[in-house]
Amino acid sequence: MTTHVNDAGVEPAAEDHSGLSVEELKAKLRRDYDPFSTRTIAEQLAELAERREQVPVSWSARGNGCWVITRYDDMAAMLQRSNKGFISFPSTPDGVNTQGSQKKMIPIEVDGAEHRQYRALLDPLFSPKRVQALEPELRVAANRLIDKFIEAGEADFAHEFALPFPGATVLAIMGWPAEDLEKINAWVDVVMHGIIGASEEESNAARGKAHGEIRQYFGDMITERRADPGDDVLSHMIRSDFADRKLDDDELFDFCLLMMLAGLDTVKSVFAQSFVYFGRHPEKWDEMFEHEETLKPAIEELLRWASPPVPTRNVTEDVIEVGGVSIPKGDRVHGPLAAANRDPKYYPDPDEIQFDRPAKPHLAFGLGAHRCLGIHLARLELRVGYEELRRRIPRFSLDESKPPIDHLGLAWGVENVHITFPPGPRENPA
Ligand code: HEM
Repeated sequence: MTTHVNDAGVEPAAEDHSGLSVEELKAKLRRDYDPFSTRTIAEQLAELAERREQVPVSWSARGNGCWVITRYDDMAAMLQRSNKGFISFPSTPDGVNTQGSQKKMIPIEVDGAEHRQYRALLDPLFSPKRVQALEPELRVAANRLIDKFIEAGEADFAHEFALPFPGATVLAIMGWPAEDLEKINAWVDVVMHGIIGASEEESNAARGKAHGEIRQYFGDMITERRADPGDDVLSHMIRSDFADRKLDDDELFDFCLLMMLAGLDTVKSVFAQSFVYFGRHPEKWDEMFEHEETLKPAIEELLRWASPPVPTRNVTEDVIEVGGVSIPKGDRVHGPLAAANRDPKYYPDPDEIQFDRPAKPHLAFGLGAHRCLGIHLARLELRVGYEELRRRIPRFSLDESKPPIDHLGLAWGVENVHITFPPGPRENPA
């Protein structure tokens, strides 16, 4: 390939593939890619960086086949073309719905006018003002979690903070009972990652059981809210008409499931990945809090660097051009956001965390019509979480005797982050 970004950040003209049949093109650009590989995040990123240099738009024949994009510009262009050549359903690289839902997940797999209708209802419910009102509640939730491990001087930060804290936040914004937090977190953990160390069969059995329990739980909640609607997000969804009809129970269930999956694993991943890094680079943990104004840009840099989600789009036009490659109708395009956010064209030394990078908006929250609904909530969670963690645990290190285990998939992250620190006092009674 010739589309190599040189040191000056300049891309030579794209290679000419004209005259090639689709099969010839796929053979020429073939480089198989495993989105569910057991590699570490760093290894996957190294492979993607090499791919960006050599075959920035590549064909992977693994599974049901998909195109893999790696450059910032290609990713941004694809994300901005919702319903203009690309649709979102199904949003997995193999084109198979993995969450067990029968229909398109609202709103993430819906496009066009219908999608706009969902966002028109949901955006105000996740507005900066509504989200900001949750700050005191989030601070209390963060400190309750920290209280549980602060006296021990050690914790698996991933399980004891990074997962339950976003769980508490989703419960708060959705108006779900706060006492159900542990139950919901345990389900999300199993659904997303199976059981660590167990066989595939055992993991699948546990997933099936968790799916059943989740279905029952949200089924009951939907019935309750139908009977006695409130001001919560689910009640708004139940009350509203979409394309002149009400949502059925399956659609409402899928919506609840998406809120859990989208809201928990992403924030968990940013906290967990960053704590692995800070555990090894305490000077950066200090730098993040040097001045009051350093925290916000630092959080954006951590989002760029961590970028957990990996969206997929499906081609609906006869042919669509992505990065100089003509992709035929029916094919899928898979885009690891982390690869785009480490494109050296915009981020020199992209693997380094630099809190004072010149502003080039990152793509961690996506772009265009499907840009993250929870963007304000996620930013608030990260700010409140980091502030309270810093106040209570100013110094910590990674326990290298229990190394972190990364996972890839549809939201990259870290399973366990064992840290040690000087013990501190509880602030609330047990
Ligand atoms: C650091 C945290 C987060 C990151 C990096 C993130 C990232 C993303 C990205 C990249 C998308 C677009 C996916 C696509 O284009 O296919 C998205 C969509 C979405 N996110 Fe987030 N997200 C985060 C937190 C949250 C939270 C806290 C919530 C809600 C509680 C949430 C709810 C959603 C929903 C509902 C969508 C679908 C929007 C649509 O399709 O219109 N996210 N998110």
